[in-house]
Amino acid sequence: MRVVLVGPPGAGKGTQAQFIASHLSIPKISTGDIFRANVSGGTELGKLAKQYMDRGDLVPDEVTIAMVRDRLGEEDAREGFLLDGFPRNVPQAEILKKMLEEWGTKLDIVLELIVDNDEVVRRLAGRRTCRSCGKVWHMVFDPPTVEGVCDACGGELFQRDDDREETVRHRLGVYERDTAPLISFYASEGLLVGIDATGPVEEITERAMDALRPFA
Ligand code: AP5
Ligand code: ZN
Repeated sequence: MRVVLVGPPGAGKGTQAQFIASHLSIPKISTGDIFRANVSGGTELGKLAKQYMDRGDLVPDEVTIAMVRDRLGEEDAREGFLLDGFPRNVPQAEILKKMLEEWGTKLDIVLELIVDNDEVVRRLAGRRTCRSCGKVWHMVFDPPTVEGVCDACGGELFQRDDDREETVRHRLGVYERDTAPLISFYASEGLLVGIDATGPVEEITERAMDALRPFA
């Protein structure tokens, strides 16, 4: 099964992607996670991506597309994948479509996580990530037992640089301008299914699985 997850920054794409991918036994491919791993690893790709990510801008399409092409070409993605954070604009979506056509395949469904802006701002303001294992927490909605410490591994929690208030506002603007048009693009392709992404995490996963089941 080939799935794309779309939604504004902080909609819960990363949170839901891990559960959905594990239910469907397909790899979760998150462009944001790949970029962040490159930033931490100090690679050339990471150095380039960081300049854009810190401002909340999109990394240039040619860089992002080359990275996704390589990742989708890997063995574990042959039978299916869940894309989180890609495509992010209509040109990326058109190239993804062509890429899959070259490989004799296509997307099955695009799942949109629907959340309003106030909720997104609350979610991003309280997000903390574990420096050691990468687990994502929320100071209010999913707090660790001891403030600043990951329950899963004891690692230190940190706030993403792009979750500062001003950068969040900029990212929301970029979403409205560049990413929101994807919704109508995929609706016109007959691939779009939207779900309410507010409420408890497990309930949202259930809604997502109900939407995906007919395509599995
Ligand atoms: P990326 O990492 O993709 O950022 P994003 O789309 O802004 O999404 P986020 O990771 O911020 O949020 P999310 O929806 O995954 O929410 P989460 O599950 O963490 O991209 C970062 C940057 O990389 C971009 O700005 C760009 O520069 C670059 N980039 C990436 N892809 C690119 C591309 N294709 N092209 C060009 N550039 C690209 O949840 C958020 C918080 O809410 C967490 O604390 C979580 O615990 C909490 N939460 C989750 N669900 C719930 C719930 N149901 N109730 C309460 N709290 C919840
Ligand atoms: Zn941890």
